[in-house]
Amino acid sequence: MPNPFRHYEGVPVLDLPADPPGLETPALEVLRDVSGRTPAGEGATFLSQLLFYSAAISASKRVASTGYRYALRVNPSSGNLHPTEFHFRTRGVREWPDGLYHYRPSTHMAEQRALGDVEMKLGGSSAPLVFVLTTITWREAWKYGDRAYRYCLHDIGHAWQALALAARALGCDSFAVGHFPDDEVAQRCRLADDEAPMLLVELRGEPIPARESTAGEIVWYGGQANQLSVEKTAYPWIDAIHATTKLSDCARGISVAEPTPTGCGEIKLPPPASSTRAFGEVARLRRSALDFLGGTQSMSLTQLSAILALASRPLSADFAGTPFVQLYLYAHRVEGLNPGVYRHWPESAELEQIKNGDQRVAAAGLSLGQKLAGNACVAFSMIAALERAVRAHGDCGYRYVHFEAGAIGHRLYLAAEALGLGATGIGAFYDEEVHRYLNVAPQQQVVYHFAIGYPVPDVRVRG
Ligand SMILES: Cc1cc2nc3c(=O)[nH]c(=O)nc-3n(C[C@H](O)[C@H](O)[C@H](O)COP(=O)(O)O)c2cc1C
Repeated sequence: MPNPFRHYEGVPVLDLPADPPGLETPALEVLRDVSGRTPAGEGATFLSQLLFYSAAISASKRVASTGYRYALRVNPSSGNLHPTEFHFRTRGVREWPDGLYHYRPSTHMAEQRALGDVEMKLGGSSAPLVFVLTTITWREAWKYGDRAYRYCLHDIGHAWQALALAARALGCDSFAVGHFPDDEVAQRCRLADDEAPMLLVELRGEPIPARESTAGEIVWYGGQANQLSVEKTAYPWIDAIHATTKLSDCARGISVAEPTPTGCGEIKLPPPASSTRAFGEVARLRRSALDFLGGTQSMSLTQLSAILALASRPLSADFAGTPFVQLYLYAHRVEGLNPGVYRHWPESAELEQIKNGDQRVAAAGLSLGQKLAGNACVAFSMIAALERAVRAHGDCGYRYVHFEAGAIGHRLYLAAEALGLGATGIGAFYDEEVHRYLNVAPQQQVVYHFAIGYPVPDVRVRG
C-alpha cells in the first residue's frame, strides 16, 4: 500500500492553529446554501477552520488483529486510500504570506511551496484563495486496478463539496472550475510527476480576512515530493483515459450543455424533515457505515424528502450549469413508500415508481454482493447522461459526471448524518447488470452507488 500521506519535503511548514472555532450553522441550512458566519480572525485561523472541517483527520480506526491505528478524514475515500491532495494559492490574506501551499493533513500544517503572488492565469485568479485539487491515481490503482480512475474522480467530487460546504459554513462563496489546461496548471504548481490537477476551487467572500496583496518576486521552494512506494505498477489504461480527458486549449471557454430532461412521478414528496445539528459537528462525525441494521426500523418519508432535496441542489461549477446525474432509489424500508425502485424528479419533488416489490437482494447483488446495500433503508444508483455530457464537453464530460456523482454523494453523507442516519458511498457495482435491471437508455451510464440507513455500530472507530 502506498503511503497515504504526501509531503513536499524541505520547504517551510506553517502551523495551522489547533482546535479552531466550531462551525455552528445547522448542517441542513448549509446544504440549503444558507451562509454561516465566523468572527473575522487572522489568516491562519481562517485556513485552519476551513481545512479542519473539509480535509483534516477526524478519527482513527483500530485493526483488531494487530492493534494498529490508522487515520480517517473528514472527506471519505474509496478504501480510505485518499488519492486527493489539497494545494492552495493565497493572495492578500491577513497575516498569512501570499504563496502556494500544500496541505499536510498528518499534522494539520501548510507546506509553503512558493512565496509571492503565484499566477494561475485562470479566470479566478483574482480570488484570494484558489484550491487546486489533485489526484494520485497510483494510491487507488494498486488496489482497484483500472477501475481506480473512476474512484479518484468520485473522491475529487467529495473533496470539492467538503471544501465548498465548509466555505459556505464560514460565510464564503465557492466556484469550481473543471475546464482548465491540465498541463499548464501542473507546471505552474510544479506538481510531482505522479500528481495530476483535477479541479480548481475558488473561494471568495467577506469572512476571508483580507489585506493588500504584495506584488513582489516569487520565491520558489518547491520541495521534494516523498516517494509513496518503493515499487510502482504501470496502468496504461488509466494513463490513456487521463490523457484523453485532458484539455490543452481552453481559449473558447466551456460549452453550455443541453437542458436536463424533466419528468414527473405519481408520488409527491412531503415537506422535508429538519435538524439543528451544527455543520461542524456533522462534518467531523460523518463516517461510512460498514453495514446497516437490516431489521424492521424504517426511515421516514420526510427524512428521504430532505435528503433528496439537499442532494439535488444546484452545484457551483463551470460544468454544472445543467445536471447530468439522476438518482434511482431502491426503497427497502421507508415509511409510507412501498418497497420498489423509484426515479427521482427533483424539479417537481416527485418519485416515479419503475419497479414494485422487495429490492434488497437486487440492490446488494448489483452492488457487487455487498450486503450493506440490502440492509440499508434505501440504496441508490446514480445514472449519468454520459452522452449528453460528452456532446457538451468532449471527453472531459467523463470526468464531470463523476465529479457530480461524488459531490451528490458527499451531500447525501452529510444530510443523512444530520438527520441521525448513516451512509456509505459504493463504488463497486456491476455496471452492465445495473443498466439491464434499471433499463437505462444506452446513452446513459451508472456512475456511483450509495446506501443510507441505520449503521451497525463500529467499535473500532475513535473520534
Ligand atoms: C468513491 C467511494 C467509493 C466507495 N466504495 C465503497 C464500497 O464499494 N463499499 C464500501 O463498503 N465502502 C465504500 N466506500 C466507503 C469507504 O470505504 C470509506 O469512505 C473509507 O473507508 C473511509 O471511511 P470514512 O468514510 O468513515 O472516513 C466508498 C467511498 C467512496 C468515497
